[in-house]
Amino acid sequence: MKRTITKDDPYKVCFVCLGNICRSPTAEGIFQHLVNERKLSSYFIVDSAGTSAYHIGEPANSKSQWTANRHGIKLYSKARRFEASDLDEFDLILAMDQENLKNMQRLSKNGRHLDKVKLMRDFDSQPENGEVPDPYYGGMDGFQNVFDVLKRSCENLLDELEELIEK
Ligand code: 4NP
Repeated sequence: MKRTITKDDPYKVCFVCLGNICRSPTAEGIFQHLVNERKLSSYFIVDSAGTSAYHIGEPANSKSQWTANRHGIKLYSKARRFEASDLDEFDLILAMDQENLKNMQRLSKNGRHLDKVKLMRDFDSQPENGEVPDPYYGGMDGFQNVFDVLKRSCENLLDELEELIEK
């Protein structure tokens, strides 16, 4: 996770959940929004993926989109499945819960690159049980809670990564 970040070698972050339609697209949208706001877009490449194939090709869930839009953030993702090659590709991979983490551990050959995989709520000042709860089967309040958790976590994450930028 710790390396110098330059414009020639931007830092690649991938947010991962199960379906890649609720939590990880929201995290991707918030993080990219913060990067843009801080005028750091040359220094980061931001993506998201899901460990399941359930929703490949779909846009973000309408409740996730509605919640993010209410906070001035657009979600542009198209669901894709997380692949073993993503473990090579990205500098930092953020899992929303323990199940996502386990699914990625299964993809890794001999534990290669697992040091790049962290839990999103490791960056939350109020981590509770350490997981971003799955909002898929619940109501709007669950989506708002996910947004709040991800906003706090993304802000803290970007604060840490910004320290690594060599301008
Ligand atoms: P996500 O939410 O992992 O945050 O995108 C889910 C989306 C779909 C399903 C479960 C969770 N599903 O079971 O289809």
